[in-house]
Amino acid sequence: MIRKILGAALLLTLPVQAQSPTAVANITIDTSKPGAEIDRHLYGQFAEHLGHGIYEGVWVGENSKIPNTHGYRNDVVAALRHLHVPDVRWPGGCFADLYNWRDGIGPRAKRPVRVNVHWGGVTEDNSFGTHEFMNFAELIGADAYVSLNVGSLAPYDSAQWLEYMTSDSKSSLANERRKNGRAKPWNVKFVGIGNETWGCGGNMRADNAADVNRRYATFAGTPREMGTLKIASGGHDDNFDFAEAMMRDGGKFDGLSVHYYTVPRVFRDKGPATGFPESEWASTLSHARHIDEIVGKTAVIMDKYDPDKKIGLYVDEWGTWYDQEPGSHPGFLYQQNTLRDAEVAALSLNIFQRHSDRVKGANVAQMINVLQAMILTDKDKMVLTPTYHVFDMYQVFMGAQPYPVSVSGKDYSQGDSRMPMVDAFAARGKDGKLYLAIVNTDPSHAVQVVTNLTGSAHGRILTGIAMDAHNTFDKPDMIHPLPFSSSTEGGKLSFDMPAKAVAVVAVE
Ligand code: AHR
Repeated sequence: MIRKILGAALLLTLPVQAQSPTAVANITIDTSKPGAEIDRHLYGQFAEHLGHGIYEGVWVGENSKIPNTHGYRNDVVAALRHLHVPDVRWPGGCFADLYNWRDGIGPRAKRPVRVNVHWGGVTEDNSFGTHEFMNFAELIGADAYVSLNVGSLAPYDSAQWLEYMTSDSKSSLANERRKNGRAKPWNVKFVGIGNETWGCGGNMRADNAADVNRRYATFAGTPREMGTLKIASGGHDDNFDFAEAMMRDGGKFDGLSVHYYTVPRVFRDKGPATGFPESEWASTLSHARHIDEIVGKTAVIMDKYDPDKKIGLYVDEWGTWYDQEPGSHPGFLYQQNTLRDAEVAALSLNIFQRHSDRVKGANVAQMINVLQAMILTDKDKMVLTPTYHVFDMYQVFMGAQPYPVSVSGKDYSQGDSRMPMVDAFAARGKDGKLYLAIVNTDPSHAVQVVTNLTGSAHGRILTGIAMDAHNTFDKPDMIHPLPFSSSTEGGKLSFDMPAKAVAVVAVE
């Protein structure tokens, strides 16, 4: 029973009424067929010069009253270090294709001020540039994923930028980096050869984008021993033309990107982040699940040209996109983050993990204060969102070995949206333990999940009283993970999953 979740302490802190499951789902885990190791880069982040994603979110400057170390917020750095963020993609997004790296080096007071035409038309003073980003990545222990400008600069500019960052020679560019305060080269793990070439990255046609990739990738060099991976800009949503053209004609690259955003309704009328009806809970989860088809179809195209799976698929922008919060700056894409986002995160990560043979990276959009954020900040305050908590709970799957899981049970349906009530994922963690993730998509009904395993299991659960349960600056801890344990049903490990909940447990 749900009382098992944690007893009295839980009921005091968690606004979940005791719910007796009326539905049963059976899950079967086949530990005899391990799949491809889950790349830890599936849990990557995306940080664009957009709204308060960088400025105020990460960077407050050395003279700020907000506690900081060399200009980086201490609270944010600590929260991100806790997540073991594998990589951060920067500086965009659309911003990347109008970004000149030379604007962001040298003394800050002398850096040029530009207009951020994509995001609110605000001025960009370039106080956060190459040194600030690369040092930030190092500070949080993440790999750097640098998106090159292929839309509006020449390949020569990218080549120079990469030499500036990565060369250990006595070249003028390497010496300029040293003069600007960085002696050692930085490690650049990923370079994005453009972003959304089909849209803000140049409005190219697919065949042309493939040619552009060949050309820019040729000159996007770093020292061989660095092993930098080149990610070609691929398709989006149900447009597979760019994936096809890139795989067929795009030249040499190590990864292909795909972008997909989840909106509750349609893009021009997305729907609010909070205060939504159940129909939009259901449509959001259903639309999020569509990424399985997009990844699957892209993988089929990739298999045709790359049967040995040498090229990884990188879902380097994904997440929810709602109407921006009323009163927030137009173009800043600031939105609240609720239990619904936590479910989207869990369902999406489960999908990427199931495709671990092909999906080698993913970057949630975006890290702080933008779209489906991990963290929200307001001056000196910070809250961790439900999405942050899912990423935290899912850390056990970094580098894990997945097992096939079959689920039988009721569907959850609402209007036109229908999906399995229970979504489950299992993998052997790097520590040798078997981990299980369970999602109950139904916002009103608990479910008893009976497994084919024996023993006991303990972990954490994220749930709340409302579909839009969320944390605010006044109440930053309304929703957070709580301990969760298994029960037994007919000698088998079983879980009483409350409505609208995500759990991750270790089986002993
Ligand atoms: O994440 C916001 C924007 O969405 C990015 O800048 C762009 O790549 C995508 O269209």
